[in-house]
Amino acid sequence: MSRHSLVLLPGDGVGPEVTHAARLVLQAVARRFGHDLAFAEHPIGGAAIDATGEPLPEATLQACVASDAVLLGAVGGPKWDGGAKRPEQGLLAIRKSMGLFANLRPAKIDDPLIDRSPLKAEAVRGVDILIVRELTGGVYFGERTRTATTASDLCAYSVEEIERVARIAFDAARGRRGKLTSVDKANVLETSRLWRETVVRLHRDYPDVTLEHQLVDSMAMKLITSPSSFDVVLTENMFGDILSDEASVLAGSIGLLGSASLGASGPGLFEPIHGSAPDIAGQDRANPIGAIRSAAMLLRYGLKLKAEAEAVEAAVGAAIAAGELTGDLGGALGTQAMAERIAARL
Ligand code: NAD
Ligand code: IPM
Ligand code: MN
Repeated sequence: MSRHSLVLLPGDGVGPEVTHAARLVLQAVARRFGHDLAFAEHPIGGAAIDATGEPLPEATLQACVASDAVLLGAVGGPKWDGGAKRPEQGLLAIRKSMGLFANLRPAKIDDPLIDRSPLKAEAVRGVDILIVRELTGGVYFGERTRTATTASDLCAYSVEEIERVARIAFDAARGRRGKLTSVDKANVLETSRLWRETVVRLHRDYPDVTLEHQLVDSMAMKLITSPSSFDVVLTENMFGDILSDEASVLAGSIGLLGSASLGASGPGLFEPIHGSAPDIAGQDRANPIGAIRSAAMLLRYGLKLKAEAEAVEAAVGAAIAAGELTGDLGGALGTQAMAERIAARL
């Protein structure tokens, strides 16, 4: 029996629906294992702009920093387009303020869903990729300029920023199938040349890991033509953003993928990779599995509750195997009912 205080940041669009679905599952696993989970909800993104004028209110950040782990839904939506402040700034600010430089995005095929993938079954069978995305550097955080007729976004990386996320990827590869693919655009970008040099140097500490380099354009192609050839994929912030959405297509739906955003110390933030899905928001149609898998990662990485994380993952797998699916995967269940089916298995 242990006590943990969690912060929920539902955010916008389908964010509240999938976050509440994940909370239901967390409560079920806590009951089963006899833990005491306390939940506190705080606004972020568009909801926070509406409530306070700020996409990341100071009170939200302080609550997250003081918690054991944070579960986030999604931010953004057309309502805030063109405003002085954007919901997405709240997400970028919380990642930066909490020092969450490594974003782990597993993309694994669930066997019963193989036919939901637009790729041929033989291409996706056995796919099990871990994308390690650098999360607090690069073009997302460089200086921006804007005049009426010009605009610029600076992409910058330091050796230290590359090393710390690369170590996470090498360590992960060591615990998996021992292969690391580092993705860059070293034929064009100076930041990518520094990235590659740094990863090559670090490789000396990991002689047991096989390292390969891929340029991001051909990586986008190979992710589709030979996805099962990848194990751990390490890349910078924007490439990781794009490639992880692409990887979600292999699995059958972007609604299936969770993620963990981790720093050197302090609480982690756990979030599905999908956005606020304004086209289906408020209709009980979002697939909650990405948020629920994020909750499993919260248990594993955030609270160090491995058996509990595995129980949640097994319950998700069992529901999928039983054909209990939301509309994005051809099923008939709503968000809430899907979460209830998973919670019931706990
Ligand atoms: P999106 O991921 O929100 O949606 C893309 C498509 O996937 C849509 O058709 C949507 O209906 C579908 N989809 C997404 N999540 C789903 C789920 N759980 N179940 C079923 N279908 C799902 O991407 P977008 O439309 O480009 O962006 C919408 C807004 O979300 C933007 O404001 C964007 O900035 C924001 N966004 C936020 C996050 C985040 O908070 N982490 C991530 C991505 C995008
Ligand atoms: C994600 C999202 C965010 C990102 C946006 C909303 C800032 O797309 O988490 O993948 O680009 O990191
Ligand atoms: Mn994204």
